[in-house]
Amino acid sequence: MNVDIQLVPSAPNPNLLFDRAVVVLDVLRATSVITHALSQGALEIIPVITIEDAFKMAKAFPPGFILLGGESESKNIPGFDLGNSPREYIAERVKGKKLILKTTNGTKAFHLVSSGKDILVGSFFNIGAVAQRCLELDRDLLIFPSGDEGNFSLEDVVCGGMLIELITRKGGKPISLTDASECAKILYRKFEDNLLGAFHLSRHGKELITRGYKEDLAYCAKIDSIPLVPIFRDGVIRDIMSKEEKSK
Ligand code: MLT
Repeated sequence: MNVDIQLVPSAPNPNLLFDRAVVVLDVLRATSVITHALSQGALEIIPVITIEDAFKMAKAFPPGFILLGGESESKNIPGFDLGNSPREYIAERVKGKKLILKTTNGTKAFHLVSSGKDILVGSFFNIGAVAQRCLELDRDLLIFPSGDEGNFSLEDVVCGGMLIELITRKGGKPISLTDASECAKILYRKFEDNLLGAFHLSRHGKELITRGYKEDLAYCAKIDSIPLVPIFRDGVIRDIMSKEEKSK
């Protein structure tokens, strides 16, 4: 199994994605929101690229069934029901609802990697479960940090490094790492006892603090609090695996 990480989030060559598993990461905060919302009973999440897409898509559903969530420049979007703080996505708000989510980097990332074979949603909340699922899939893997408007993002690469560390540690099979994966692992080891330190150092972490979302940083640094592995398939993110397991 070969494990690669795309350190800068440009669209990968679709041929590179053929038959690969992909893990999309945007720990501050889109993939943390998605994982949290599904753990609180949201039915599914449709990631969209623009605010217009979100409003247009909402019209296709009966009123009361859909919630619009996300951010623009980390700020709440006028006319949307929810922002982009995972702490907002609690059962009282999201249980039994479909969500349409628009964020700056995270929701875009899913569309950039949509030709991958299995597209998983990763965050610190579910990192152990995601590592386990990657090993079960046993496919070559591309970890895709969503980045910061096309740039490298420290917090996502540290999370990718932790995923690589867990996969190689749990492995029990030969795993080959690219130079980028080795770099991410080294970066994770630098911050493994202080994930918040990485968040505070990152440009996006600083921006969230300025916007009044300091509590989200500590919240998103919780490791293994949610045992779900959401999957993006046919334009929609669902907790498919656990539903299949539950029905056994
Ligand atoms: C993104 O998708 O870029 C983020 O989730 C932004 C944020 O939450 O501030």
